[in-house]
Amino acid sequence: MKKYHVIVFGCQMNISDAERVASVLESAKYTKTDDITKADVIIVTMCSIRQSAVDRIHGLVEKFRKLKTTNHKLQTILTGCVLKKDKKIFIEGFDIVLDIKDIKRIPEILGIKKVKNAENYLDVAPKYENQFSANVPIMTGCNNFCAYCVVPYTREREISRPAKETISEVRNLIRNGYKEIWLLGQNVNSYKDCSTNFSKLLKKINDIPGEFWVRFTSSHPKDFDDDVINAMAEHGHITPYLNLPVQSGDDKVLKSMNRHYTVAEYKNKIKKLREKIPDIAISTDIIVGFPDETKKQFLNTAKLFREVKYDMAYINKYSARAGTAAAKLKDNVSLTEKKNREKILTDILKETALEHNKKFIGKETLVLFNEHRKDSYFGKNEQYKTIKVVSQENLLGKMLKVKIIEARPFILHGKIV
Ligand code: 5AD
Ligand code: SF4
Repeated sequence: MKKYHVIVFGCQMNISDAERVASVLESAKYTKTDDITKADVIIVTMCSIRQSAVDRIHGLVEKFRKLKTTNHKLQTILTGCVLKKDKKIFIEGFDIVLDIKDIKRIPEILGIKKVKNAENYLDVAPKYENQFSANVPIMTGCNNFCAYCVVPYTREREISRPAKETISEVRNLIRNGYKEIWLLGQNVNSYKDCSTNFSKLLKKINDIPGEFWVRFTSSHPKDFDDDVINAMAEHGHITPYLNLPVQSGDDKVLKSMNRHYTVAEYKNKIKKLREKIPDIAISTDIIVGFPDETKKQFLNTAKLFREVKYDMAYINKYSARAGTAAAKLKDNVSLTEKKNREKILTDILKETALEHNKKFIGKETLVLFNEHRKDSYFGKNEQYKTIKVVSQENLLGKMLKVKIIEARPFILHGKIV
């Protein structure tokens, strides 16, 4: 039997795409191998968000060249978020470079069978990597064209999945014991299928019977509205955790990033969220060193960090991406200064995250365990806090009550109750 090996880079959406690729290969009678040297086909789902991610693919090409010297029949396929200009470069290093929306054609490409309908790849039933947490894409693509971002060029325009199809996938997952459902999209707040918008979709999913948590990502502040806040507050299955990427705390920078909201509007949404959902944990994405970002403008981001008091932040150093609007501007903040700004924000984050985490000490919190290292099990609670428990018993996939005994900025230590 032929074997496939999948290598995934990037976000949860890429992980979810790779699960669909795996399912297409299994339907073509391939079996998975974790040993790359045994594979007949290697599929790479790449990420183009930062240049460093693209550079890693160049490294892989070298590795594949070596593998092919002993395994002459090896075929390599590149898919995921690939820029048009990179397709031309990578076609040298891979046998096939494939648009993610064409993954149904893989069997045909491998010479196994002809495929008639190659449209709508999201209707491919995925082969889930995990038995208790599942990624469910509700839409793909993006219409926003933030000045720094390649996604609208790699994934093209927004397409929402039919609500019926999405709900049926979630219902099946819950029936099969899945405890955590991640609804994915580049901008889930602009989900639309006839009369079902995102808040209505949340309600319909919340109404499915069972014991499960719903999380979602990503949200765009300009589209994150009161209806979604209310849905989060009213529907018990939607966890009190939100990633709301602000990207910058300065109005002028936000304008040149083409983000379509002001700092005041963003803060107002955070205020409403905390009023309606007092125990909510909030994270954000930030880009430091966007072209022309002055020290003063950066200090506005630092000020916003102190005010909002994030639980978590994904801090990115700006990386120019060819073809985007920002690539026309000079990348004029030095790497040293970007690192300096990153450190200032990380230091504030450590303080605010610890402040939030300390509130958990002595309290009980429900944890879904998803990782095991040595004698420790790691999991997430509803607020998406990482919790560590020392245990001899296998806790993987279990949802258990934990009493928190120690708090650090990015981890809580606890004991099973
Ligand atoms: N440079 C640095 N960070 C970026 N991101 C997106 N594009 C870039 C870029 N060109 C970050 C944003 C986004 C996250 C997924 O990646 O913060 O929210
Ligand atoms: Fe990129 Fe902006 Fe779309 Fe997010 S909303 S995927 S940052 S263009």
